[in-house]
Amino acid sequence: MEKKTFYITTPIYYPSGQPHIGHSYCTVASDAIARYKRLQGYDVMFLTGTDEHGQKIENNAKKEGVTPKEYVDKVVEGFRNLWKLLDISNDRFIRTTDDYHEKAVQKIFRALYEKGEIYKGKYEGWYCTPCEAFWTETQLKDGKCPDCGREVKWAEEEAYFFRLSNYADRLLKLYEDQPDFIQPESRKNEMIQFIKSGLNDLCVSRTSFSWGIPVDFDPKHVVYVWLDALTNYITAMGYGSDDDSDYRKYWPADVHFVGKEIVRFHTIIWPAILMAMDLPLPKQVYGHGWLLFGDGSKMSKSKGNVVDPVVLCDRYGVDAIRYFLLREIPFGADGNFTNEALISRINSDLANDLGNLVSRTTAMVGKYFGGVIPAEQEKAPVDDELEREVVSLREKCDKAIDSYQFSNALAEIWKVVARTNKYIDETAPWVLGKDESQKARLASVMYHLCETLRVISILITPFVPNTAPKIQEQLGAGAAVLGYENAATWGLLPADAVITKGETLFPRIDVDQEIEELNQLIPSTVPAQEEKKDEGAQVPEGIAQITIDDFMKVELVVAKVLSCEHIKRAKKLLKFTLDDGAGERTVVSGIAKWYQPEDLIGHSIVLVKNLKPVVLCGVESQGMILSADCGEDTVRVLLMDGIPAGSRIH
Ligand code: ME8
Repeated sequence: MEKKTFYITTPIYYPSGQPHIGHSYCTVASDAIARYKRLQGYDVMFLTGTDEHGQKIENNAKKEGVTPKEYVDKVVEGFRNLWKLLDISNDRFIRTTDDYHEKAVQKIFRALYEKGEIYKGKYEGWYCTPCEAFWTETQLKDGKCPDCGREVKWAEEEAYFFRLSNYADRLLKLYEDQPDFIQPESRKNEMIQFIKSGLNDLCVSRTSFSWGIPVDFDPKHVVYVWLDALTNYITAMGYGSDDDSDYRKYWPADVHFVGKEIVRFHTIIWPAILMAMDLPLPKQVYGHGWLLFGDGSKMSKSKGNVVDPVVLCDRYGVDAIRYFLLREIPFGADGNFTNEALISRINSDLANDLGNLVSRTTAMVGKYFGGVIPAEQEKAPVDDELEREVVSLREKCDKAIDSYQFSNALAEIWKVVARTNKYIDETAPWVLGKDESQKARLASVMYHLCETLRVISILITPFVPNTAPKIQEQLGAGAAVLGYENAATWGLLPADAVITKGETLFPRIDVDQEIEELNQLIPSTVPAQEEKKDEGAQVPEGIAQITIDDFMKVELVVAKVLSCEHIKRAKKLLKFTLDDGAGERTVVSGIAKWYQPEDLIGHSIVLVKNLKPVVLCGVESQGMILSADCGEDTVRVLLMDGIPAGSRIH
């Protein structure tokens, strides 16, 4: 029987600058879906590529003194390399400068002209050069481009037009008949409003520049870059060429993933073009949200964040970046990208939860059963509970993936990871291990851990494709039990599989040290404008005034240092045990450069008692010790000797 097909696309990106984490976001998301569908047994076609024509590229090339083609060739290489680095499994990569695409676009343009869907007229309007879009007076926002907010200029040219205005009713009907065509729902309402406010015919040719596909029967015109770009989804499948078998096999696409700012092009112009050509329409357009960088801006690399995907992959590994992008932000919504959030996800979800589960499991099977997975023997009710959660996990993931909510799929998987860690605490194998009469029970516990990891390893494959095989190798699990069809059945891992203890999957990151190092990388990524803004700024002016009520929210007390020691692997940190008057607490402080542990034992210090606890290098810090920055790289702890522990300072 022929496999069911699944065709997914990313936008084709402008190679007008090197790819950034925003482009990676959509491509990683599409990749996760493509991989999941392959796992489910679909014959998947996953397409990405580059949108290489237009005035902006022509201008960029001119500035660099190279031809547009030389310019894009270089940038496109950067896109291809990044996709390789991020383990993107695209089946095809289209460049709109590819010969087959250019020929097909010319054919499509001519066919639409011959059908009367495209006609020749004269264009007058407000033109935004960076967006390559004409606007009417009423569409302008405060006299500027409504999309990017930049200056527009009045332009007039002889041009070809597509009869978009004829399609308003058919488009509204499409949205009604196919309620899932535009996702998420909120974007559909925007499109309906847009159509209802009146559709104009669309100018689909340009004479003001030449870097585009010439209209073959009137070559002083080049094809409008969006008409050129949108058709990539069918030309990449061979539409308009001698061999259109892939077009017939895969089209219509199951889903186009696009950023929310280009939903309009994909849900109004694109279906109207296809309707005019009497071709089937894509089944769905999913408009995802934006990654925002701290200051709420979409693209800029704002202060405090290193957003170069190559740097991030280098530091944390590809799977950590993929996991973060897929887990942190619900697809469809906007979300903030911060280094703190990234590191916190890596530490908690990957190093603590999953990494620990794998290393604890392999270590215990090694210790108690010589590294050979024992058969399930004496079961307890808690085993059945875990089994039920494990075998029902695949269905929950499928459901989340069907609506492209990979963050939910990952949340479901991590619920099972957490449940399994709890299972270890509940069954306490280290206690069972001390009692020979409990060997059969211990065997069951070990089997449950390994078998759960087998299922988890299958289901995480699409998201973290490097990590899954590492876990499977450590479990000694062979391909026969690692298919999608094996993920909802309990008990497939053979009882004599041999465990190998592998490398640590995700080393824990020292947050403070890491943020400091990242901050040092930042100057090169701060846009010049922002750097200027800060010149000469004086620190006190940057600190806002607070009221006495604000100050009183900080609980400052005197505490006595009972003991103090270095923390392994963290050169800058000291771990303190303090008496705060009410009891003992642990505080980690980054002052190892200025103090030896014995310097402070017995002294009294100022403690910020109600600071939210954080885990630093695996130690929970329950507060902060105040010190003064005396300049010239000198820091002194505020000493309160002679004042009783617990005294409130205000
Ligand atoms: O629009 N957050 O190309 P483009 C999330 N060539 N996603 C982001 C992002 C961010 N900060 N920045 C970019 C074009 N993206 C056209 C498309 S398709 C026929 C033609 C992603 O290089 C997002 O998917 O400007 C967005 O739609 C796409 O990159 C825009 O890429």
